[in-house]
Amino acid sequence: MIADFIYNTPTKMFFGKDCVKQLPNVIERYGKNVLMTYGGGSIKKIGLYDKVKELLSGFNIVELSGIEPNPKYDPSVITGAKLCKDNNIDVILAVGGGSVLDCSKAISVCAKYDGEGWDLISEKVKATKSIPVVDIITLAATGSEYDAGCVISNTAINDKRGYVDGILFPACSFLDPKYTFSVSKWQTACGTADAINHVLEQFFAKPHNAFNDGVMISAIRSLMANVKIALEKPSDYDARSELMYVCSLACNGIFSNGSGYSGWPMHAIEHALSAYFDITHGAGLAIITPNWMKEILSENTIERFVTLGKLLFGFENLSDFDMANKVISEFYAFFESIGIPMHLGELGVKADKIEEMADHILENDNTLGEWVYVPLDKAALVRILTASI
Ligand code: NZQ
Ligand code: ZN
Repeated sequence: MIADFIYNTPTKMFFGKDCVKQLPNVIERYGKNVLMTYGGGSIKKIGLYDKVKELLSGFNIVELSGIEPNPKYDPSVITGAKLCKDNNIDVILAVGGGSVLDCSKAISVCAKYDGEGWDLISEKVKATKSIPVVDIITLAATGSEYDAGCVISNTAINDKRGYVDGILFPACSFLDPKYTFSVSKWQTACGTADAINHVLEQFFAKPHNAFNDGVMISAIRSLMANVKIALEKPSDYDARSELMYVCSLACNGIFSNGSGYSGWPMHAIEHALSAYFDITHGAGLAIITPNWMKEILSENTIERFVTLGKLLFGFENLSDFDMANKVISEFYAFFESIGIPMHLGELGVKADKIEEMADHILENDNTLGEWVYVPLDKAALVRILTASI
């Protein structure tokens, strides 16, 4: 059964080799004044910075650089919004990974708001105006290039906030897989783990249907196979292109049209970890995944595990619970095999913050909400975090 839904992705996607040649035609639609945003310099190393400057030689470009992973409200979003206001910016061009794009999405609304921008990001105030965002995404991971979300950290209050609103869809995204050849093994593994987790967050939902199951299992299979190739051969276009495309779809919502909303509990937990310890998002998720699965495994959820066991891993002739446990071990072994340390302690997370983080999650993400697939109270959150340490 396909449950009722509304679906709309207004982002225009350009995919493939040298698609960025179309950049000037796209940017021109919005105006001449461009805020170009980027991170710590990877785009300079791969020649993309020069390429963009060459393509946009007829435009007025103001730059905001140094956007960090787990992008910060202060200084990046605040500085970007001020640059937009001071320079009458018509369009924001984000060039980089999910962090650069998320920061740019936040800037796009804060620049059109006279109050404190954090009120928009924390959804106290609804944004009504924005500057269009165009992006060239250089890392296959978050799917920010094809979704309506951004995730911004406010270090002053230890908060990492997922802000989702249709106004945040990029106007246009350019995806050229060759710009991901230079992504490190670590980021390749973490980006893939992030996307696998995006699919799992949607797979474990009620109601669900066989069509979506098939699509999601195919997505996970593709991610698992292609990351191995990309780690071995970073410049393998076929593998990088499949990773890039699947990652873009994995967070867009299309995989859960007609299914229930799960509440994205693993993301709720990981965002607290990143807020407190600034860890890499995908690594945190990979570590949490098997422990969250162990926590929610019961007669009520067993069918989801069995479906994964049979359709994704091809297991047979096992009791339901044996199959579920084998699914959990398989995910653990897979994440370990792509180089993710499977204990949070190895990423610098301290056990003495577990209680505080559990309280923070309950306060900010409501893992007990009615919509949550399996509600997690404080004791459950503490168990998951403790098992993950
Ligand atoms: O800063 P630079 O020098 O560009 O280096 C980056 C950064 O150090 C580097 N990198 C990016 N493209 C590269 C490259 N290095 C070599 N070659 C390239 N082509 O990779 C490092 C990590 O970049 P980052 O943008 O932080 O990674 P990612 O794309 O995984 O983004 C992670 C952020 O997105 C959020 C996460 O929480 C985290 O803050 N998420 C956003 C979502 C969304 N908007 O929908 C959903 C996700 O669940 C996630 O929460
Ligand atoms: Zn994620």
